[in-house]
Amino acid sequence: MPILEQCYNLMDFEAVARNVMKKTAWAYYSSGADDEITMRENHTAFHKIWFRPRILVDVEKIDFSTTMLGTKVDIPFYVTATALGKLGNPEGEVIFTKAAKKHNVVQMIPTLASCSFDEIMDAAQGDQVQWMQLYVNKDREITKKIVQHAEKRGCKGLFITVDAPQLGRREKDMRSKFTDVGSNVQSGAQTDNSQGAARAISSFIDPALSWKDIPWFQSITKMPIILKGVQRVEDVIRAIEAGVQGVVLSNHGGRQLDFARSGIEVLAEVMPVLRERGWENRIEIYIDGGVRRATDIIKALCLGAKGVGIGRPFLYAMSAYGLPGVDRAMQLLKDEMEMNMRLIGCSSVDQLNPTLVDTRGLSTHTTSVPVDNLGMAIYDPLVNPKEKAKL
Ligand SMILES: Cc1cc2nc3c(=O)[nH]c(=O)nc-3n(C[C@H](O)[C@H](O)[C@H](O)COP(=O)(O)O)c2cc1C
Repeated sequence: MPILEQCYNLMDFEAVARNVMKKTAWAYYSSGADDEITMRENHTAFHKIWFRPRILVDVEKIDFSTTMLGTKVDIPFYVTATALGKLGNPEGEVIFTKAAKKHNVVQMIPTLASCSFDEIMDAAQGDQVQWMQLYVNKDREITKKIVQHAEKRGCKGLFITVDAPQLGRREKDMRSKFTDVGSNVQSGAQTDNSQGAARAISSFIDPALSWKDIPWFQSITKMPIILKGVQRVEDVIRAIEAGVQGVVLSNHGGRQLDFARSGIEVLAEVMPVLRERGWENRIEIYIDGGVRRATDIIKALCLGAKGVGIGRPFLYAMSAYGLPGVDRAMQLLKDEMEMNMRLIGCSSVDQLNPTLVDTRGLSTHTTSVPVDNLGMAIYDPLVNPKEKAKL
């Protein structure tokens, strides 16, 4: 296995994890829905946005801190909710809690965590802020208990997942017969493990969840409510009208509806419409899916996002190297962020704006670009850490 210092970017952790993880765990983390077109598009979409950097701006001091739902954070990303942390590392989600504390970012706790909710809350230190991701149970009394417990324990945001009335078909995962322990909330419950981890842990989710339920959530909690998995401008407008505090433009990491558009593309559709109405500050807008570089974060902020969620890269860093891996992944993003903010000509995140990006290619759902034969023939390709170690 390559030493940790050989990982220079978030993709490197994925390359190492693929080699060292247990097959079922790799299948669960890496899989997307159907043909995985959306999963790949999530990352590719960022490659369709180019910069229009400013010059001759004083960028000696760079401050990329911001606030998310009122919490001051060091850098505009959060650890998004990903189920079953112990598949990758026996310590599970508390590793993210510790890394998030060190880098002063927020951790979103998944309903289907391997550690118990209280273990993850207990692992937080001082005034560390955590949010909760909610899969809504058919039994609303159970849901109410979970939500009110989270609020009592000090959670500062309730992210209701709205893109998963049924879990997507993740075939890599389905092919692997799941034999591990499932999520903590279901310990002791009978689950059908014959079709992969996702199917085993998702049977309780309510497909009848609808807009009509939002006032009920608002009546049972004072936590800010954020809808996670919004995918078109009409629904963002409806969310604002419903009085929620935020949305995450997300397709669940390409694990739900294949051919759903990327969060960054939806963001580019949403913000001009909100600006036209003067509504751009009425809620906080986040995106997730395919964020792998600080330039991806910067592109999202230029287009109007308050921040971005990152999922798989931290799972892979944790699975390959434990806490030091997640720590390094977060530090790499901070280093990239400082350099790229400087190069784009902005010393703080409030200076990031739509004039700094060229999004003309974004709505094109093909990736064909002219082939640069001569250039490619002499190009010395980047290699993964595994290959470097062999040299
Ligand atoms: C292994 C895995 C498990 C996930 N589990 C959940 C979950 O339990 N609830 C949820 O709302 N989203 C879940 N997600 C979706 C993430 O919150 C997020 O939308 C997605 O991972 C972002 O894409 P990225 O992995 O490319 O960063 C999961 C994603 C992965 C990869």
